[in-house]
Amino acid sequence: MPKELQIPNRETKLLLDELEQILDLPGDVVEFGCYEGDTSILLAGVLRNNPDKWLYLYDSFEGLPEKSAEDNSADGWRFKAGELKASPDTVRHKFKKYALPDPVIVKSWFNGLSDSDLPSEISFALLDGDFYESIKTSFDLVAPKLVSGGKIIVHDFRNAELPGAGVAVNEFLEKHADEYEFRIAATMAVLIKK
Ligand SMILES: C[S@@+](CC[C@H](N)C(=O)[O-])C[C@H]1O[C@@H](n2cnc3c(N)ncnc32)[C@H](O)[C@@H]1O
Repeated sequence: MPKELQIPNRETKLLLDELEQILDLPGDVVEFGCYEGDTSILLAGVLRNNPDKWLYLYDSFEGLPEKSAEDNSADGWRFKAGELKASPDTVRHKFKKYALPDPVIVKSWFNGLSDSDLPSEISFALLDGDFYESIKTSFDLVAPKLVSGGKIIVHDFRNAELPGAGVAVNEFLEKHADEYEFRIAATMAVLIKK
């Protein structure tokens, strides 16, 4: 396996295991906040033998937006507006380098996306936008399209540097408790649509 397609840590292994478990479901795979595509190529590696499943990647490619009050944390001083700026070409080249099928890349702030920018059905969503509003908006876009048995994984659910991610998950679960099973995997939240 090429070096960059090797699984870098336990958390990423857990993430890819979650993806493996839904491959029989209908619906495409989305990542909200792909940055330079390092996790995206691993998702694509799992999907390689499932050509009917498309991978959609969303990012501002302008870096992080401004924080909300929910994101404030002394630990999170490194995460500022404009940090984590990447380019769609960096992502495209990474996919080419490993001969992975081209993903759909959408350059947009999440709150500028509409229903038609997303696939009609989603089986797996990775929400990795770091901040409260970014995760909240991602939930609003993904949840109506998630198939039964489909999963939403939220990165940084338990990360003291990024408390807004956990607030967004808890708020979503308060409203939709009956519709989802919930568990924690390392620092990630795993929500499974009933
Ligand atoms: C932690 S990085 C993603 C890392 C990537 N998932 C990986 O594992 O390599 C967060 C990304 O989310 C993007 N992002 C955060 N909030 C956003 C928003 N509201 N709209 C669009 N992009 C956003 C940032 O531009 C950044 O690239």
